[in-house]
Amino acid sequence: MLVLGIETSCDETSIALVEDNGSILAEGVASQGETHAPYAGVVPELASRQHLSHLGPLLERALQDAGLRLGDIGLVAVTKGPGLAGCLIAGVSFAKGLAYGLGVPILGVNHLEAHLCCCCLAGKVEYPAVALLVSGGHTLLVRVRGVGRYELLGETRDDAVGEAYDKVASMFGLPFPGGPAIEDAARGCGPCGAAARLPRPLIGSGDWSFSFSGLKTAVLYRLKKREGVPFREGEVSALAREFQNAVVEVVVKKTIDATERVGARCVMLAGGVAQNEALRSELKKNADARGMRLLCAPKRYCTDNGVMVAMLAARKFADGERDDWSLDIDPGLRLA
Ligand code: KG4
Ligand code: ZN
Repeated sequence: MLVLGIETSCDETSIALVEDNGSILAEGVASQGETHAPYAGVVPELASRQHLSHLGPLLERALQDAGLRLGDIGLVAVTKGPGLAGCLIAGVSFAKGLAYGLGVPILGVNHLEAHLCCCCLAGKVEYPAVALLVSGGHTLLVRVRGVGRYELLGETRDDAVGEAYDKVASMFGLPFPGGPAIEDAARGCGPCGAAARLPRPLIGSGDWSFSFSGLKTAVLYRLKKREGVPFREGEVSALAREFQNAVVEVVVKKTIDATERVGARCVMLAGGVAQNEALRSELKKNADARGMRLLCAPKRYCTDNGVMVAMLAARKFADGERDDWSLDIDPGLRLA
């Protein structure tokens, strides 16, 4: 059966055509980076409008690429939440109209669960596992007992990791989205001196909650102290690197602790920030040292995409899940 996956929860319009055996036949993404860049953040109204204009052409192109027709679609899958309300409405309305017109079933999925589903592309998940989900809107540590069986271990009390990257990048005058920009800036820089050290928030809290707004403010104060004094070569890189080191150290320590404490052997890493090479390699080093298996979502499927929506829906549909026409958005939908 051919599954169409539709993702419009934030600023990426993405669709994919995936067979229920997992083969990816076509995918398309329309990113809105340029639209939101001047605002250093996603403007919900602009994002919703762009989804509406991109969905039709993306679907047409995907069908063409795969040599398929609308009538070949057997299930329409769409992100129902969490996300920006207007953006979710654009995707769910499009999905409903299409499924109704084609006379095929529809299934709404949880965006966070879909992110986790991409870890399956890296290998078979052994349950129980512990998942670290880090994106622009979420920072979660979750015990995973199986598909659909999640238990929240900890989450951020304030900013999500990706949000902190974006805000710090904007303070540095780096482009949006800030994650890749900070990672690039940090890459060229050697170890920082002790003077540049930033806090590692909640690293010794003994639980699995996170907090990144204080770290962001610490960077802001560092910049304020310099008011009027231009940065010397390499100073922005050094601060970017220290910020990244602080984030990575905290999330890796808590993830490994949680995995040990709940007796899991498998660690999953997903979400937009999971593209970060420093995070991937540090988590791998620490997991390897303890004989844990790390499954990172492939980098190209870390950002929001239609493939994750279609893959998850195919599994759930096979287990008998489906929605009726009362399917609605749920902007605050939780994973656990
Ligand atoms: O999952 P995602 O595409 O959208 C949400 O559901 O939020 O995540 C986007 C977030 C942004 O905050 C972006 O700055 C961050 O992921 N990000 C990164 C990297 N690439 C994207 N953060 C750190 N390092 C990266 N290489
Ligand atoms: Zn996402």
